[in-house]
Amino acid sequence: MDKPVLSERMQAIEDMVMPGLPVADVGTDHGIIPADILLKGICPYAVLTDINSGPLEKCRENLKAFGVDPSRFSILQGDGFDPIGDGVFGTVITAGMGGELIISIFEETGWSTERKEGVPLARRFVVQPRTHADDLRAYLTGAEFRLCDYKLVKERGRICEVFAVEPCGAGELRSDCGLVSEFLLAKNDPLITEFIDGKIKKAQHIAENASGSDRPDARYAADIWNSVAHQLEEIRKNI
Ligand SMILES: C[S@@+](CC[C@H](N)C(=O)[O-])C[C@H]1O[C@@H](n2cnc3c(N)ncnc32)[C@H](O)[C@@H]1O
Repeated sequence: MDKPVLSERMQAIEDMVMPGLPVADVGTDHGIIPADILLKGICPYAVLTDINSGPLEKCRENLKAFGVDPSRFSILQGDGFDPIGDGVFGTVITAGMGGELIISIFEETGWSTERKEGVPLARRFVVQPRTHADDLRAYLTGAEFRLCDYKLVKERGRICEVFAVEPCGAGELRSDCGLVSEFLLAKNDPLITEFIDGKIKKAQHIAENASGSDRPDARYAADIWNSVAHQLEEIRKNI
């Protein structure tokens, strides 16, 4: 029997899943994360979804090869939260996609902390954006969610951000939309310095490119990005 092999990124996602409650993995592709969750008995049931049929075929084959009990999962095809619209979950995972796509998935379906037709009810959402992570963090924590876990992990030499949000209680809004997450800074993640250094380099690179451009707004853009780099340097100094 084959065994699921999880990268450090996948393991971080699995570690943030609420045990003992059903899990949904939206955009599951290979299905390795929910397969491992089921085999380890972390969750009693899993719904695996993807917008494309090709990944779902591969996913079906993988779960069979891993020997996952077919009565403990459903595989559904559809866009974003559509296939899990009426489900109740401990955790909904949306990983390995662009942050803008994840935002559009939340936007299109909406979310609710109470039972509502067509909207998945989840105690926790675990997200792992490949791009635009800051935008996704600002979007989710500017809405009805607060961060409850955040981890930086390396995959093929690149730092990936994995974070979990839960709906806020009444009067408990916890916006976290700075250049670096307050939650992550407070946690003092082992990769935090390298992570901020990467952000500084990127900001300096954009500022340099802008200052070499003839466009009339380029000087302005260069000033903004130099200021971003400076603010990041200050954050780094205070770690
Ligand atoms: C790079 S894979 C990520 C696989 C897995 N979640 C992970 O983190 O390892 C992204 C998957 O998302 C699926 N996908 C893209 N847009 C989607 C959408 N709107 N709704 C559901 N799945 C989507 C793709 O078909 C693809 O299989």
